Amino acid sequence: MEEYAQVNRAHWDSRAAAHAASAGYDVARLISGERRLSDVVAFDEPRLGSLEGLEGVHMQCHIGTDTLSLSRLGARMHGLDLSPASLEQARRIAREAGEDITYVEAQVYDAPAVLGEGRFDLVYTGIGAIGWLPDIDRWGAVVRSLLRPGGMLFMREGHPMLFAIDEVRAAADGLVCAEYPYFETVEPFVDESEGTYVETAEHLPASRNLSWNHGLGEVVMALVSRGMVVELLEEHDSVPWEALPGRMLGIGGGEWRLADRPERLAHSYTLRARLPRG
Ligand SMILES: C[S@@+](CC[C@H](N)C(=O)[O-])C[C@H]1O[C@@H](n2cnc3c(N)ncnc32)[C@H](O)[C@@H]1O
Repeated sequence: MEEYAQVNRAHWDSRAAAHAASAGYDVARLISGERRLSDVVAFDEPRLGSLEGLEGVHMQCHIGTDTLSLSRLGARMHGLDLSPASLEQARRIAREAGEDITYVEAQVYDAPAVLGEGRFDLVYTGIGAIGWLPDIDRWGAVVRSLLRPGGMLFMREGHPMLFAIDEVRAAADGLVCAEYPYFETVEPFVDESEGTYVETAEHLPASRNLSWNHGLGEVVMALVSRGMVVELLEEHDSVPWEALPGRMLGIGGGEWRLADRPERLAHSYTLRARLPRG
């Protein structure tokens, strides 16, 4: 395994149990069925269309709350992630919820070799997923290879413009400044901060992690250059975590929006692209 993947695997392993226990993921109510869908999947339910009977894979599924939701919408789901501690939580959650989901430990770039080519109607990903991959064009090849003709990629992701903003400066003086690369770079962004993106009582010590930004055009072209057709590309003025702490307001449904003039910034996007038949 490449060094960046080893570093990131250790990072996600160190966060998985705390995420599963956090109020943000609200796992207990999801398992009991009091909440049928995660906020992330509920947000996009109108855009997903019917998933009944589809063969689906959730890439970078983490603890599997969105995977479980897609399963409840009728897809036969597989979840893929490189973090064994995340998959341990995902398997437990599926078992306790009584959903039949297959979880596989693998890297995204190995997904076609591990899962098989051309066998999925749905490849789902997002919300802090593709940023852990160094090469978005290679990701596009993986997506294309997993899909059978007529199948779709569905993703909601933090907007690359949001990821270019300096969140420390935004917290300190309220300025929304583009400080980090918008486009994919060779060198990763190295983060060593404590804590995580959901509130948790646990102290999570610093854990090195490596990420990359991918411009919207780079993501789209990774798919379009392989014959996929973009059916939907919607940019949103909200994002499902407090991405700029201290500067955002919770607006319900797990969504957060800049408190001051949110129209300045695309916060996230939903993308649906299909591999044509024939
Ligand atoms: C921020 S989490 C995704 C969160 C997910 N959308 C959710 O809300 O639960 C990122 C996940 O990507 C996984 N990951 C990172 N790099 C990966 C890779 N190269 N291959 C497979 N999974 C990877 C991590 O293990 C982690 O579980």
